[in-house]
Amino acid sequence: MAATLIRGGTVVTDETTRRADVLVRDGLVAALGDGLEAPTGAEVVDAGGCLVMPGGVDPHTHMQLPTMGTVVADDFFTGTAAAAAGGTTTILDFVGPDKGESPLEALARWQGWASRSTVDYGLHMTVSWWGPRFAREMEALVRAHGVTSFKFFLAYKGGLMLSDEEIVAGFLRCRELGALPQVHAENGELIAHLQAKLLAEGRTGPLGHPLSRPPQLEGEATVRAITMAEILDVPLYVVHVSAAQAADAIGGARRRGVKVVGETLPGFLAIDDSVYASPDFDFSAGHVMSPPYRPKGHPEALWRAIEAGALSVTGTDHCCFTKEQKRLGAAEFTRIPNGCGGVEDRLHVLWHLGVNGGHLTPERFVALTSANAAKAFGLWPRKGSLEVGADGDVVVLDPSRRKTLSARTQHQRTDFSVWEGREVKGVVVHAFARGRHLWVDGDLRAEAGSGRYLPRAPFGPVFRSAP
Ligand code: URP
Ligand code: ZN
Ligand code: ZN
Repeated sequence: MAATLIRGGTVVTDETTRRADVLVRDGLVAALGDGLEAPTGAEVVDAGGCLVMPGGVDPHTHMQLPTMGTVVADDFFTGTAAAAAGGTTTILDFVGPDKGESPLEALARWQGWASRSTVDYGLHMTVSWWGPRFAREMEALVRAHGVTSFKFFLAYKGGLMLSDEEIVAGFLRCRELGALPQVHAENGELIAHLQAKLLAEGRTGPLGHPLSRPPQLEGEATVRAITMAEILDVPLYVVHVSAAQAADAIGGARRRGVKVVGETLPGFLAIDDSVYASPDFDFSAGHVMSPPYRPKGHPEALWRAIEAGALSVTGTDHCCFTKEQKRLGAAEFTRIPNGCGGVEDRLHVLWHLGVNGGHLTPERFVALTSANAAKAFGLWPRKGSLEVGADGDVVVLDPSRRKTLSARTQHQRTDFSVWEGREVKGVVVHAFARGRHLWVDGDLRAEAGSGRYLPRAPFGPVFRSAP
């Protein structure tokens, strides 16, 4: 494979910032330093005035997921191509077995779909049901297939929700295998109660979605999950934290030494629940995801939690639907497919709001967009770092360039964007995935199947100190 010299930029990692050229050869970072020579035939990219950083690692995506009577609009090719256009060069997606389905068989199905990815990908397993077969197959998932993280749902009663008894059993099985439990923390019992009450009152529109999922329910479930993890002595990863109460619980637990990692999403740092009050169904339904966007005050609290280190990872929960798909819930908010896009937008939004907004140093930006996710999920330092020998996943960001985010110009396969019309300053101008130049200043050169599966080793040691 040809070499690439990224010349004249400022290299930022989660620890340092320095002027350096970066040489990528045979898909790996081969050298860093001042005044590197370009090998014969190498592509030379001028990064003058730009930041050169590890490619983004998005630990939370849903490509091609069959859910709520439809299938997520982005498949693994379109979704990962969009990711690359936004500087994300690794994703971790979720396998979702049907009720009673063998998780190993579900994994094989997902591997078939995911093999069309244009960036590298790892897989988590959703614990969509519990029983002896699931527990048994977890061993092969961890030891033979490199699926070392398992998501448990405390919400979606009658669907994905597990009982506390099942979650305890699942956490213990994770502990035995050196796997990492993840939780979707909302109180499913109370959500079901509130949904039924709202529908009975004739409140069927999208506003019922946040009303049936108040922030306290996320706070309660987060405390419950942390308590289980603490008592059972197993590490815990809390996905898509949206509520101040949940962030506080994670921060408090970390201060006590509990090995818990909290992930939040750019949308939760910037968008509030006023979006659900819009009379435009496509707009309000376009924002329906779980947990929902929260009342004013929560985004600010999440920024403080990031600054204090309570929340240390960002993902996107990329799960995008078209307006047409969201209309499946036109008669009843409980049927609106849950999820929003964003895999293409995360780095832009976090640079603009985080770094330009004074919440993040460039190093913290790298920690939050790649390094900490790679550390949490056993991909460090191959991903999320630029040390010699790391994968040649590199992003060049021009901090002076501006762009307006819009469904009309995005590569995500949907006609909706929660970021519609927002201008950001700081634009990804190049993205390399294991040395392949996928994003060339506005030109997307994605190729289906050029990404590789990332089997991961069991944890344990990584969580001696949670990132
Ligand atoms: O609404 C969401 N977040 N959909 C994706 C599934 C999940 O819970 O992460
Ligand atoms: Zn979830
Ligand atoms: Zn999700």
